[in-house]
Amino acid sequence: MGTGTGGARGGAGGGGLVPGERWWRVLFLALASVSFLISLILLFLSAPRLRLPGVAPSASASAASAVRRGPDAPPCLAYLLIGARGDGRRLLRLLLAVYHPRNRYVLHLSADAPDDERQSLAAGVVAAAPAVGAFENVAVVGNPTAGTPVGSSGLAGTLRAAAVLLRLHPDWDWFLTLNAADYPLVTQDDLIHVLSSVPRDLNFIDHTSNIGSKVYGPSDLANNISCSPWVILNRQFIEYCILAWENLPRILLMYFNNIIQPQEGYFHSVICNSLEFRNFTVNNDLRFILREDPAQKDPPFLNREHYGQMVDSGAPFARPFRENDPLLDQIDGNVLKRWSNGPVPGAWCSGRKRWFSDPCSQWGDVNIVRPGPHAVKLHQYVNRTLDEAKSSSNTCRR
Ligand SMILES: *[C@@H]1O[C@H](CO)[C@@H](O)[C@H](O)[C@H]1NC(C)=O
Ligand SMILES: *[C@@H]1O[C@H](CO)[C@@H](O)[C@H](O)[C@H]1NC(C)=O
Ligand SMILES: *[C@@H]1O[C@H](CO)[C@@H](O)[C@H](O)[C@H]1NC(C)=O
Repeated sequence: MGTGTGGARGGAGGGGLVPGERWWRVLFLALASVSFLISLILLFLSAPRLRLPGVAPSASASAASAVRRGPDAPPCLAYLLIGARGDGRRLLRLLLAVYHPRNRYVLHLSADAPDDERQSLAAGVVAAAPAVGAFENVAVVGNPTAGTPVGSSGLAGTLRAAAVLLRLHPDWDWFLTLNAADYPLVTQDDLIHVLSSVPRDLNFIDHTSNIGSKVYGPSDLANNISCSPWVILNRQFIEYCILAWENLPRILLMYFNNIIQPQEGYFHSVICNSLEFRNFTVNNDLRFILREDPAQKDPPFLNREHYGQMVDSGAPFARPFRENDPLLDQIDGNVLKRWSNGPVPGAWCSGRKRWFSDPCSQWGDVNIVRPGPHAVKLHQYVNRTLDEAKSSSNTCRR
């Protein structure tokens, strides 16, 4: 009824409106057009966020099946990100810095973290990267191993996460462990591109002592070796450790379960004592770590002073960083080009780059990687590492 009368009045009042009525009309029209504009802008701004992850199961199934696997495809990396109580935000930032739809991720907060921290981490992951819902490639460990973050539970947690990754998706090539204090120095596009030319039977571990040249008993191995707990291991070797068709991994596990930092040696001891794997070991964990004082057990925290040295090293990862250190923002801005609160943009992100939207809220072919300017240094670093492994006697190759 209102419209009818309004229309009639408007039609009739073309020439003879009283001045008060005309002002009301002008005001009404102005208000209507302003609110129309505002709602258009709001709709436009919120559009990227409306693509909620996991809403259409058929869409996510097709997204995940678009990922090519196997020896002819780019390698697939399976990441384990480990943190303790209070590390939830750091793990989320780390995940976004190393996220790529081709890869697999398991996030593990140790048992001392409260359950709501674990839940807010899971919610944060889904909110920050819609691709996670479509590719279903991130899992947050819900019920962590009991105990403290050090000691046997740390190794048990790593083995359990590796077992989860084997069970859920036995289609990855390398297993990488990162800690909340680690951060990448290259994009995943760079890393996947460079690792495409690396033989997939290689394992990267760092051991400071020459454990390959002598025959040690298992308790010597457990007590005398200090190695980097951060490893890059291929799936074959993880299967060997988890499925344990030989006695060696199981026997060593018994010994390593009784020492303080079993990760600092377990995988290294297994690999260097197994005839099957020792020839395919590279004595380098691919991390940039400052070693100013060799007597010091824990390396110093990195800060902005170390930026140049760190980035020039060509290493794909560095550690340790403090939470929210300005150095991390520098890496995000200069190296990873991660400006928003979303994942690092890569060739897979097909959304338009705007200040208000995340280009990775939409995606195209995830099997294509586009190496950036840092890929050359990374390639040189990896080539150098492989050359050293060939010539050095300080690996368990020989
Ligand atoms: C291992 O360390 C213990 C002391 O911690 C020492 O007695 C033993 O000789 C060492 N074994 C080897 C093989 O170096
Ligand atoms: C490992 O290297 C040694 C010495 O070079 C060689 O005798 C052995 O057959 C190699 N093992 C494998 C599994 O390739
Ligand atoms: C690394 O080595 C590969 C072959 O092994 C070679 O094709 C590539 O050009 C090298 N890259 C760099 C940056 O040295």
